[in-house]
Amino acid sequence: MTEAILLTLQKRLPYERFKHTVYTMHAMDLAAKVYGLNVEQASLAGLCHDFAWAMPIDQMVSTLNRYESLLLSQLTGPQRRNSTFLHGPVSAWVAVEYGVNEEAVFLAIREHSGCFAEMTLLSRCLRVVDLTVALPVSDKRRDQMFRHLMTGGLDTVEKMIAKHNLGRSSAPPKLPSNQPSTTPPA
Ligand SMILES: [Fe+2]
Ligand SMILES: [Fe+2]
Repeated sequence: MTEAILLTLQKRLPYERFKHTVYTMHAMDLAAKVYGLNVEQASLAGLCHDFAWAMPIDQMVSTLNRYESLLLSQLTGPQRRNSTFLHGPVSAWVAVEYGVNEEAVFLAIREHSGCFAEMTLLSRCLRVVDLTVALPVSDKRRDQMFRHLMTGGLDTVEKMIAKHNLGRSSAPPKLPSNQPSTTPPA
């Protein structure tokens, strides 16, 4: 399945975003070993996490209307037009359409873009890897955080990300409910 998804992503994503996706997949493999997570699930979550990244916002909203009407109803007007937040839940459902059927992977992709206050350990690792893998732009601070993550410093790196508001143009919604309105894969 990984190879088929890679080929699909190569067509769906701009080249730099595709490279970021491959880096994230490999970084999640390393993170899984550091944090005692399932390596296959972590790699697959990394591979698929930005599946819908290049999707037009109206298409994102219509995907959420189909699968996540509850989530959509909890977002403010500006948040509903913000692909930075929406691409996580939308990517999770697109991944399901491409055959990803593990709940842990689904939740990690869904939660990685900061929509939810409660996150699984796999989701937290994915979010931090996503924000520190640093492509297409690399910087020293992100590189340091990435190294810190890979030596067991997840909690500290999360605090640093919150302090510097990395990668976010405005505060993420952090919704209390993490239950999709449609049943996710079993
Ligand atoms: Fe993302
Ligand atoms: Fe990403």
